[in-house]
Amino acid sequence: MFDVAPSAYRALLGALDLTDLGPRPDDFRAAVWAGLSGARKAIPCRFLYDERGSQLFDLICDLPEYYPTRTETGILARHAGEIARAAGPDVQLVELGSGASVKVRLLLDALERPSAYVAIDISAEHLAAAAARIRADYPGLAVQAVCADYAEAFDLPEPGAGRRLAFYPGSTIGNMPPVEARDFMALWARRLGPGSQMLVGVDLRKDRAVLERAYDDSRGVTAAFSLNLLARANRELGADFDLDAFRHEARYDERRGRVEIHLRSLRDQTASVGGRVFAFRDGERIHVEDSWKYDLDDFRRLATAAGYRTRRVWTDPADLFSVHLLDVAE
Ligand code: TRP
Repeated sequence: MFDVAPSAYRALLGALDLTDLGPRPDDFRAAVWAGLSGARKAIPCRFLYDERGSQLFDLICDLPEYYPTRTETGILARHAGEIARAAGPDVQLVELGSGASVKVRLLLDALERPSAYVAIDISAEHLAAAAARIRADYPGLAVQAVCADYAEAFDLPEPGAGRRLAFYPGSTIGNMPPVEARDFMALWARRLGPGSQMLVGVDLRKDRAVLERAYDDSRGVTAAFSLNLLARANRELGADFDLDAFRHEARYDERRGRVEIHLRSLRDQTASVGGRVFAFRDGERIHVEDSWKYDLDDFRRLATAAGYRTRRVWTDPADLFSVHLLDVAE
């Protein structure tokens, strides 16, 4: 893990090309208030990724039960040459949700003279550290970091000259319902422009036991990741959630094709958040996130409806995960 003191962090931000459009503290309080006020309680999943949450997510990616990271990395490693040939020389690589910027190295190593790397992530410290490491390891590559919610409107920087290749790994597309996922992909088709490409990782439907283990591991790292939403509220908003009185839950809805992730209240209780008090019944749940799973043809149809032509699809030998290379249609 890359921990930096605040002063060193600011120095790092100064040295780097970092545009900070990230969430303000007030957004979190407003979102928690709104999310806990309705009949069905929820906290938006973008708040999972503060500094602590981003660290926990990196640990999730290394868990034996969490197959997506390992499997997607294997697909990228095996087919990086083909991906690079299809993308062509001088591309500007744009990563949506760059995290620790690990997988992207497989592309940077394979691409012919990539001109730029634009890393977009919601977690500023994590982003700055990861971008600094890329910059150090790839001299001559223009590296630009944008701290933003990439689903929101912002101007996509253009630090290089070549065509754009967007990279959206991790099946993060599956954290939106399919209709939203289609609209989001269409938004990015317009943002990237004609001639651009998108390389997107999509998790596949599979056996319930494999899926439920991937989202509720034996060491409790995933539970800590979900519970970090409440811990973050305690840290940042002075809330008083009792973290032992909520339990992480992951359940696969096979008909819908989604893993539903919740925090369940283990008793009748109240919690105060920024001066407002919220009541939780025994068994009541706070929705954290859904992770939608696709069949290959379902995702091909979604990409077509969003304005792309599917160029290639790669999977692993066990058909756990897929990587789709899409051309933005003219
Ligand atoms: N994009 C990841 C996924 O759907 C996010 C994720 C992994 C996640 N584990 C989680 C989100 C646990 C909430 C809780 O696989």
